[in-house]
Amino acid sequence: MGLSSKSKLFVYASFGIFCLFIIQCKQESKTEKDASSCVKTKPLNPNGDSELAVLMRNMYDSLAAVNTLIKNGGVPTKFPEAFLKLHTAKPTDVNTKPDSFDAFADDYLNTLKSLYHSPKEDLNKNYNSLVQKCANCHQVSCPGPLKKIFKLRLDS
Ligand code: HEC
Repeated sequence: MGLSSKSKLFVYASFGIFCLFIIQCKQESKTEKDASSCVKTKPLNPNGDSELAVLMRNMYDSLAAVNTLIKNGGVPTKFPEAFLKLHTAKPTDVNTKPDSFDAFADDYLNTLKSLYHSPKEDLNKNYNSLVQKCANCHQVSCPGPLKKIFKLRLDS
């Protein structure tokens, strides 16, 4: 005795829903990957990453390292001089550098300096305020990495 047409329908429908689910998951992981950078085409520098993109990756790695350091009770001491180049580093696409870029860059650099001169009890607060400065600029110039940046906030 075969399956009734009702249960066949149920099997087909479940299979269909299952496929949709798989496709959905695939798409989500794809957007997650794309979110790491803001511009997919790199007109100014087709053979490599822009100076600003490389600097940003270093800023991200440094932020993640300071995050771990603070969590383990440490104090950041070696100010990353290289990040002072933020104003002049060439972006992938000039459109990602809006007029407000320099103001955001100064705000970020000033907060970075405060963090490296921070008394231990203010470390968490000053660190989180630095994460916010990354985000402030990204909100206007490059929203892609925002989620990744906010993940580096410390619980306070
Ligand atoms: C003054 C503005 C500004 C500030 C402050 C800023 N960013 Fe960026 N960020 C950008 C721009 C613009 C790009 C795109 C660079 C390009 O593609 O050339 C970018 C790109 C990135 C990228 C993607 C790099 C890649 O692989 O293409 C990451 C990750 C990133 N930023 C993280 C951070 C973190 C973490 C901070 C704070 C420590 C930060 N950003 C602070 C403007 C800023």
